[in-house]
Amino acid sequence: MLSDIQAAELIAGSTFIWHQRFPLSEGVRTPGVNDIEWLLNEVGVPASLDGASVLDVGTTNGGAAFIAESRGAARIVAVDIYDADRFGFDEISKALNSRVEFVRASVYQLPELLRQQFDVVLFLGVLYHLRHPLLALDSLRRLTGGVLYLETAVSGEVPDPPQASFFRRDELNADSSNWFAPNIACLTDWVASSGFNVESIAHWPADRPERACLAARPSAGVPEYIEISTEVPLVVTGTAT
Ligand SMILES: C[S@@+](CC[C@H](N)C(=O)[O-])C[C@H]1O[C@@H](n2cnc3c(N)ncnc32)[C@H](O)[C@@H]1O
Repeated sequence: MLSDIQAAELIAGSTFIWHQRFPLSEGVRTPGVNDIEWLLNEVGVPASLDGASVLDVGTTNGGAAFIAESRGAARIVAVDIYDADRFGFDEISKALNSRVEFVRASVYQLPELLRQQFDVVLFLGVLYHLRHPLLALDSLRRLTGGVLYLETAVSGEVPDPPQASFFRRDELNADSSNWFAPNIACLTDWVASSGFNVESIAHWPADRPERACLAARPSAGVPEYIEISTEVPLVVTGTAT
């Protein structure tokens, strides 16, 4: 951790966007809108990650990765489709003297690129940005040795049956990088179809869900979609451009 003065200086001198709010020192939190420490607690990430390997996909400012490091994780890999300077990851990492490794790649490429599994996989606020959400979940299944924590936008329109809303342009939050919002039933089915047992799921607001988070562990054997269909894991290679 930094001193309060060092943290304030880092924030004052920064030129990138702070998306996440997280502690840089005892008394100073970053000025982002997304309280990532609250979110990690909400999805159920343990207070101690002693010795765990952690993968944070869609790291942005790196808040979840740096918190995982402060919770004792042994190895942390932070991934984003943008370079490490886009959201200040490199600057913050240097200031914190962090051991977190940064990889620029898309979630689809990670199984081939990393060729390993992680005890904890964080996939927070990324699913709805993807044109291929099932391919991403299939990739996460190959990367998850322990537990996947996923948080996403959901559509509260239809509680049941499983349905996903598709946003062709910027209909979701006036953001054209948003493509799909499943309802809760659909999200659960997508994750299970990719070969996970969903252990817990929560959503908010209570009456008309807009966001949901879940914890899931790999189911035994091959993923369900492989067992019941002609689909096989799609191998994606290359680097993000
Ligand atoms: C809304 S932010 C969420 C950031 C963070 N996980 C959080 O919860 O605060 C989405 C992040 O995911 C990244 N992202 C988008 N598409 C991605 C992809 N295909 N693979 C990996 N990261 C991606 C974006 O660049 C951005 O940094």
